[in-house]
Amino acid sequence: MSDVMISTNALTKRFGDVQALDQVEFEVHKGEVVGFLGPNGAGKSTTMRILTCFISPTSGSALVHGFDVFDHPLEVRRKIGYLPQRAPLYPEMNVWEYLEFTSQVRGLDSGTFRARLKKVVEVCGLAQVLGKDIGTLSHGYRQRVGLGQALMHDPPILILDEPTSDLDPNEKAEVIKYIQEIGKDRTILLSTHNLSEVEQACARAIIVSKGRVVADGNLEDIRSRAGSVRYFAGFSSAGSANGQSGTPAPTKQAARDALAALAGATRVTESPTEEGLYRFEIAGGKDGDLRPEIFKLAVAKGWTLLELRRDAQSLDSVFRDLTRGDERLDRGAGWADVNDPDKSSGKSGSGEAATTADQA
Ligand SMILES: Nc1ncnc2c1ncn2[C@@H]1O[C@H](COP(=O)(O)OP(=O)(O)O)[C@@H](O)[C@H]1O
Ligand SMILES: [Mg+2]
Repeated sequence: MSDVMISTNALTKRFGDVQALDQVEFEVHKGEVVGFLGPNGAGKSTTMRILTCFISPTSGSALVHGFDVFDHPLEVRRKIGYLPQRAPLYPEMNVWEYLEFTSQVRGLDSGTFRARLKKVVEVCGLAQVLGKDIGTLSHGYRQRVGLGQALMHDPPILILDEPTSDLDPNEKAEVIKYIQEIGKDRTILLSTHNLSEVEQACARAIIVSKGRVVADGNLEDIRSRAGSVRYFAGFSSAGSANGQSGTPAPTKQAARDALAALAGATRVTESPTEEGLYRFEIAGGKDGDLRPEIFKLAVAKGWTLLELRRDAQSLDSVFRDLTRGDERLDRGAGWADVNDPDKSSGKSGSGEAATTADQA
C-alpha cells in the first residue's frame, strides 16, 4: 500500500447557499503532522467532518487509509481517532469511566481496554486525574482526555479540530507538547488558526480560505512565497515637525504613490494610523530589503519618516495575504442548533466523538 493516509479529490460541500468547500484537494502521507490552517469559516471543520464520515460531500471524494469515506465508513472510523472542535465529554463521569465508555461503544474487549488505557494514560499524562469527574477538570485536562478518547482504539490517523482553541497559553503549550509526542508514531491532521502552534508541531501546512486550498507545502516554502515580506512606514503629516518650519509634508496620496513606485513594492495599503501620521503597509521586497529604499525616498522628498519596520512574522503575513477578505464567520444558532450533531442532540455531552464510537 502507498503511504498516502488521507487524500481528497475535488471535495466540494454546499450548505444551501454557502459553498463551504470548493474542490479541495490534498494528500497527507504516513507519519506527517500537518497543520490545517484557516480563518473561521474557511472550511476546516467541514473537511474534517467529511473525513470522519459525519457528513457527506456534495461532490468529490475522500480516501482514508485507502478506504472511501462514503463507501466504507466503518473501516475509515477504525483507522481514525477524532477530536471534534466541541469535544463532547460527559461531565458527570470520571475520566476512567469515560474512557471505558468510549472504548465499549467502539467494541474494545475489556482486556484490550485495560492494555490501551495504561498506554493512553501514559501518553496523555492522565494518571493524576483518572478518578476525577470530567466536569471538575481544567480545559487543558479535558482536551487531554479528548485526545485520550481519540487514541483508545490505537488508530494510525488522528484528526484534531482546533484542540487548543479554548485554552490559555500554558494549557496550549501543554496540549501541543502531547500532540508532538503522539505525532512521533502517527499521522495527524491538526486544524488551528494559530500559526505559532503550526510552527511548533508541524513541518507542513495546508492553508484554506473560503473553502479552497490556497497554500500547501512545508513551512519554509510557504514562508518564502512572493509577497510574504511586509513593511510598515509612517510619515509625519504635519508640515513642520518639532516646530521646525519649512519641513515639507506629503499628502497621503503622494506618499502612497511614491511608495507604490518603489522597485520591489507589490502593494501599498493604508494602515490604521494616529494623529499626525500617515502609516502604510507595503508588501514586497522579496528579493531585497525595502527599508533603505523607503529611507532614501523620505530623504529625497524631505519627508519626516517617523516609523519604519519590517514584519518579522512572515508566515503570519503569508497567512493574512492568502486569506485576505475571508470574513465568513460561524453563523451560530441559526443552523448550528439544527444541523450540528454536537448541539442538536438534547443530551449534554453527546456528540461527534461519542457518535463515532457508536457507529464504529
Ligand atoms: N451545518 C451547516 N449548515 C450551514 N452552513 C454551515 C454548516 N457547517 C458549516 N457551515 C458554513 O460553512 C462554512 C465553513 O464552516 P467550517 O467548516 O465550520 O469552517 P472552519 O472550521 O474553518 O471555521 C462557513 O461559512 C459555515 O458557516
Ligand atoms: Mg471549525
